[in-house]
Amino acid sequence: MTEADRALDRLGLYVHWPYCARICPYCDFNVYKAANGTPGELLAAMLTDLEQWADRLEPRPLASIHFGGGTPSLMPPAAIEAVLAKAQKLFGFEPGLEIGLEANPAERDRLAAIASAGVERLSLGVQALDDASLKALGRDHDAQAALDAIDVAQQHFKRVSFDLIYAREGQTLDAWQSELARAIGFGVGHLSLYQLTIEPGTAFQKRRDRGELTPPDDDAAADMFQITQAVTEAHGLGAYEVSNHARSRADQSVHNRLYWEGANWIGIGPGAHSRVGRANAGGRQAATALLRPADYIAAAATTGAHSFETLSAHDEAVERVLMGVRLVEDGFDPTLLEHVTERTLNSTVAAQLAAKDLVRITQGRIHLTAQGRVFADYVAQRLAPA
Ligand SMILES: C[S@@+](CC[C@H](N)C(=O)[O-])C[C@H]1O[C@@H](n2cnc3c(N)ncnc32)[C@H](O)[C@@H]1O
Ligand code: SF4
Repeated sequence: MTEADRALDRLGLYVHWPYCARICPYCDFNVYKAANGTPGELLAAMLTDLEQWADRLEPRPLASIHFGGGTPSLMPPAAIEAVLAKAQKLFGFEPGLEIGLEANPAERDRLAAIASAGVERLSLGVQALDDASLKALGRDHDAQAALDAIDVAQQHFKRVSFDLIYAREGQTLDAWQSELARAIGFGVGHLSLYQLTIEPGTAFQKRRDRGELTPPDDDAAADMFQITQAVTEAHGLGAYEVSNHARSRADQSVHNRLYWEGANWIGIGPGAHSRVGRANAGGRQAATALLRPADYIAAAATTGAHSFETLSAHDEAVERVLMGVRLVEDGFDPTLLEHVTERTLNSTVAAQLAAKDLVRITQGRIHLTAQGRVFADYVAQRLAPA
């Protein structure tokens, strides 16, 4: 087995905690108000689900465990410990396993206990550094809470990242540039910088349709993206993925890299997605868990909570391209795609995209250029096998 095959065989565990104290008006994740949840029942169902995954798969140690949501910083620390203990017993851990969790700054008082439960990498949903913007985003914390949370996180976790959302209504290029410089100044090793997306079905979409919300237009948002690349690179936090920035390879997210590299991950919790398959064995499986917590809890105890689909080689190839080209630093390897899926990239399209300065082809690998990163989704769709 080659090193590339071994990388493709790695396995991560995603744990979806679907509850949030308040639902943010821009968010389209699978989330529910915390008051509607019974954490004990959900935990029991997730542990059962994990056992079922262990029965389905050839055992292999986990490369990463990621608690996402929703707001997993609302999980009782004992529940985090229970998931970690069960995962270790059933799968084992790779040396240097990453254990990450997404936290909301409103839960800053719980962070020490979350670290004691075994989490070593924290990503904080800071979103903005001033009160007016946080209010406009419908967040349940102010800027001081976010700053306190960054401080507490840096005391308790080996690795800290935080998320910011830019291209917010009324935000100027200058304002974003200063906010970003301030964010970098906190000295974390990783930042996730997301352009605001108005997702279908969200409160923000309804407001925009009624003319009550006017985010920056595409040109202004593209300028903000470009300035994001320039400022982060100048401060040693260049992008390794379209929206993710790290000081060093060790600061990058192991778990998210499994997605972009097309390795394997199993998901537990309502709505969690999974992708599993052995390198060169064909038949990559996609699984989706039932969305509503009550349905998930009931099904985990009986038939199992996931629906399964075997991806066709074509669908697998398209997905690998859409995810893989996002790794801007590493670039995308068409030879590996061919080796795994027997599908080839359209080389004429690749040459056309290179002529338009959207990609650069170096030693056979395809890299998004600075311009290409602005149109990453378009470039990926053009490159994907027809
Ligand atoms: C699932 S959320 C989890 C974080 C945590 N619940 C919180 O909000 O603090 C992950 C990240 O996705 C980003 N995000 C969610 N919806 C977005 C949108 N519509 N546009 C841009 N970024 C978004 C936010 O930065 C958020 O921190
Ligand atoms: S952004 Fe985070 S806190 Fe807000 S609803 Fe989505 S998952 Fe919950």
